[in-house]
Amino acid sequence: MKFTSLKNIGSIDIPKFQEDLIAWYQQEKRDLPWRRSPDPYKVWVSEIMLQQTRVDTVIPYFNRFMEKFPTIEALADAEEEQVLKAWEGLGYYSRARNLQAAVREVKENYGGRVPDTKDEISSLKGVGPYTSGAILSIAYGVPEPAVDGNVMRVMARILSIWEDIAKSSSRKIFEEAVRQMIAKEDPSSFNQALMELGALICTPASPSCLLCPVREHCRAFHEGVEQELPVKTRKKNSKHVHLGAAVLMTEDGKVLIQKRPETGLLANLWEFPNVELSGTGNPKEEVNRFIQKHYGLSAKLKSESATKIQHVFSHLTWDIDVFWGTVHEASFTNEKRQFVPVSQVETFAFSVSHQKIWKTIRNQQDISSESPSE
Ligand code: ADE
Repeated sequence: MKFTSLKNIGSIDIPKFQEDLIAWYQQEKRDLPWRRSPDPYKVWVSEIMLQQTRVDTVIPYFNRFMEKFPTIEALADAEEEQVLKAWEGLGYYSRARNLQAAVREVKENYGGRVPDTKDEISSLKGVGPYTSGAILSIAYGVPEPAVDGNVMRVMARILSIWEDIAKSSSRKIFEEAVRQMIAKEDPSSFNQALMELGALICTPASPSCLLCPVREHCRAFHEGVEQELPVKTRKKNSKHVHLGAAVLMTEDGKVLIQKRPETGLLANLWEFPNVELSGTGNPKEEVNRFIQKHYGLSAKLKSESATKIQHVFSHLTWDIDVFWGTVHEASFTNEKRQFVPVSQVETFAFSVSHQKIWKTIRNQQDISSESPSE
């Protein structure tokens, strides 16, 4: 494949670039838990967690996940609820569901061994070109590119590539660049070194060019344009939604929670009853009407909104007015609605915003987890 935006590749001393990059990586790489053994399952889990999430955040989640689900078998056989609980707070929960679906397929169709060909591995749920490249190169030593936003930034600078990295069509150009430059004898170190360089040196805002091990190969540095690269157009402004939520407790210390639908945003996670507000009415009255209409419950909400929570997704912001009140317990035929003892609330997998709601209300109302019903 020929791309005119790769016209500078001919001027790079590729063997020297590989040598400088990998030598720096061997010296400076962070001691990260998934780097201790190139087990394909561990590499897979870590790469899924690391999409859209910072390394520091991922480390404790990865360690806990490996304790709970140390093997393909263990994850395949686990209840989805347990997997979501282990993922609670990491966000982008479809990653966890897809990972488990894919691991079940590996157990059933590949005898529990993560496949090592591009076609097979790419057919697994949630495994796109980045993840397949990362697993193949890191776990199996296959010289495949693993191009994410960090790697695009690094390569845009090294080769002075002015393609818009926000466009999905640009990825192929960067993959071709890595394909031509990857060290065939150590693709694992090469790809991880590009990631590490992007994280530690070739950072988005002010790259540390003076510390860069491949500065002498970098076109953007020579041209003095490292701050202008990569080209990345802004996404449209995200939508704002105003919600009213209610934490409702019975006299004997049970709280009403509900499970979200099986598909869509935050699928299958638990939350407190909530409704999108009109923006024109009285939020407390709207929440009250909603509770009456959807649950058949007459709630006594305290007059003031107990707290306001904001949660920012990549495409959407929720502003939630949270109310606190009391209700009489009812029984539901639908098991997606439950009254649960206060002491058990935290055993359910909640979205981050609803975890924040619970923590705030629990502290504000001084709710003890040793509820009288226990
Ligand atoms: N970001 C994505 N993959 C990574 C990895 N394997 N190590 C460090 N940071 C990463």
